[in-house]
Amino acid sequence: MAKETLTITDNRTGKTYEIPINSGTIRAMDLRQIKISEDDFGIMSYDPALGNTASCNSRITFIDGEKGILLYRGYPIEQLAEKSNYLEVAYLLLYGELPSKSQYDAWGHNITHHTIFHENIKKFIDGFRYDAHPMGMLLSTVGALSTFYPEAKNIFDPDSRKKQFHRLIAKMPTLAAFSYRQTVGLPYVYPDNDLSYTGNFLNMMFKMTELKYKPNRVIERAIDILFILHADHEQNCSTNAMRSVGSSLPDPYSATAAAIAALYGPLHGGANEEVLNMLSVIGSKDKIPEFIKRVKAGEGRLMGFGHRVYKAYDPRAKIIKQIAHEVFEVTGKNPLLEIALELERIALEDDYFIKRRLYPNVDFYSGLIYQSMGLPLSIFTVLFAIPRTSGWLAQWEEMLLDEERRIVRPRQIYLGPDKRDYVSIENRT
Ligand code: CMC
Repeated sequence: MAKETLTITDNRTGKTYEIPINSGTIRAMDLRQIKISEDDFGIMSYDPALGNTASCNSRITFIDGEKGILLYRGYPIEQLAEKSNYLEVAYLLLYGELPSKSQYDAWGHNITHHTIFHENIKKFIDGFRYDAHPMGMLLSTVGALSTFYPEAKNIFDPDSRKKQFHRLIAKMPTLAAFSYRQTVGLPYVYPDNDLSYTGNFLNMMFKMTELKYKPNRVIERAIDILFILHADHEQNCSTNAMRSVGSSLPDPYSATAAAIAALYGPLHGGANEEVLNMLSVIGSKDKIPEFIKRVKAGEGRLMGFGHRVYKAYDPRAKIIKQIAHEVFEVTGKNPLLEIALELERIALEDDYFIKRRLYPNVDFYSGLIYQSMGLPLSIFTVLFAIPRTSGWLAQWEEMLLDEERRIVRPRQIYLGPDKRDYVSIENRT
């Protein structure tokens, strides 16, 4: 049988090294033995965007980017979207198994009873300018939560960790909805414990003067499915931020604030907002060919297209495209849908996109649904952050309990000046 090793010959010295291969991977540290002399540092690997580096072992989410497969703890995303709900999926991500009936009831009870936050948090939200972006408000208030729960620093206490899971997952929708209501000058709406996780979110977003808010069932379920689809996605940019920041062992609120900051960017979660901006700029179907021409000339990107891992249709985008039609039956069709569909059709037939294997990703259609529900553009990325919190926390805990955990601290290739002597200001040219 073939050996699971890699033989490397260093042509500088003529020496040969045999390095073990595990799960199709070599350990970067095994390269360090390859030296030209005793005092040589040894070889490192260079991978600036970590495009070919496994940064951890994980048992949470599996993606086959070639085939467009996404599994949470082994369960296909399509089955979870059809049969499960977000709270159950959050439990699955955190605890590794679907909950029993009693576990599910206790979990739901705990989340429901942690939705309110300290009244002083409202003062932070009140303090933002009228045009503050809700993602900026979310990341600062989540960071601020760490000061309200100082015991969250006990990250190696499983009971304390569990408590912070309940708090974070429960409070994200409240923070998001309060941030939104502040920006539009509406009074805050407190959680309603009779409603589901997503029903209550809609209540806090949209309740006006009615005594009891009744969420539309189709919209409530659509948001729940969108939350399932966004719950985790293995080692993406924000999860990597969560693990990396978490590796210096701060409390989970601080690490989550860092993950939210990473998600905010237009190449990651911020893309859902950018897609809508792009569709509005295009304006009509006849302008699409001109727009595609500009993208191909390197003048901007087709937002909501392309993915580091998927080189096939993003399975989440497929599901979102289906639910869009159900939602539009209730809300009326989003006029930008026609542009999006035509844009997708043209792009998928174009050599530029075919050659680079660029397909619609999760962000291409989600914003159209959110917009048709009356949600403002600025809240779209917040709607990504709410469900991703369970994934971030699952990945954070896995990192904490990993016996190989050490503070994340990459190396660099130094290309700056050699050592030189300080020059006083009057002698500088
Ligand atoms: N439009 C036009 N060209 C693109 C696009 C795009 N959306 N995405 C990639 N390319 C081109 C890119 O110019 C490059 O071409 P070339 O080989 O000629 O230089 C090639 O495809 C490979 O691109 P890359 O930038 O090396 O790919 P990456 O894996 O580093 O980036 C990405 C992945 C998602 C950042 C990128 O595809 C992108 O910017 N997409 C638009 C933003 C977006 O939709 N982001 C959401 C990602 S999915 C959800 C999430 O993570 O939040």
